[in-house]
Amino acid sequence: MASSHDAAVATVLSRLGGRRPAVALVLGSGLGALAEKIENPLIVPYDQLPGFPVPTIQGHAGRLVIGDLGGCTVACMQGRMHLYEGHDPRDLAIPVRLLHGIGCRTLLLTNAAGSLHEDMPPGSLMMITDHINFTGISPLAGANDAAVGPRFFDMTRAYDPELQALLRDAAAGEGIDLHEGVYFFCLGPNFETPAEIRAIRVLGGDAVGMSTVPECLAAVHCGMRVAAVSTITNLAAGMTGNALSHAETLSESAEAASRLERLLRRFLAQLGDGQ
Ligand code: HPA
Repeated sequence: MASSHDAAVATVLSRLGGRRPAVALVLGSGLGALAEKIENPLIVPYDQLPGFPVPTIQGHAGRLVIGDLGGCTVACMQGRMHLYEGHDPRDLAIPVRLLHGIGCRTLLLTNAAGSLHEDMPPGSLMMITDHINFTGISPLAGANDAAVGPRFFDMTRAYDPELQALLRDAAAGEGIDLHEGVYFFCLGPNFETPAEIRAIRVLGGDAVGMSTVPECLAAVHCGMRVAAVSTITNLAAGMTGNALSHAETLSESAEAASRLERLLRRFLAQLGDGQ
């Protein structure tokens, strides 16, 4: 059975020649500049990929950049799609399946998130150790394509323990303070209410955001290893006297981006191309 990502995979493979990326990166809000550092890049705008959903918001460029970073061949999504943009949830699996289809077996997800902890302030990095999907929405709901993955799949180690250990080592090697915690996925597009944040704290969330979980689900479903890091752009709603804004998300994530870049370069160098 042909799958919805097959044509996009064929398009990218035909442009790649013999090169095969092993590691995929998804760059979140305000973090896209890292893609500009990729050497010998092959750049494919999403709108040239058949069947590919296209992001609509500021701060998300919308192109696939494949090339060398930290000694690895990486495939980098510069800009991602979010559920709140109105995409069919199943379409959010397409980019991940494309990355898998061109050879990536490891997926590193990044995002901007709000912190539930005063001692994890804006500018902090948080490695995601687990998540809570509060939207009730999954990109895997609907007919299952058994050629891609099983109907029911395990999420016990969704964020790969070996990759977490590598991230910890990379952070220690770079002298970067890497927080760890549970990412709480809200649909958006609004930021949360203060009452929702109090509830999320009780439920076990450490950071809150509007992305990453659909991609993690699609990746675990097709057998990829997943790691994820949030850049903390703000204390969550109600924790300060201030209103939240997308402008703050972009400026604070740009601030944390250079630390994230050092972390990812060291992580990729330790991971190597064999992954
Ligand atoms: N909530 C949800 N998403 C976010 C936030 C937040 O506080 N900050 C950045 N993305």
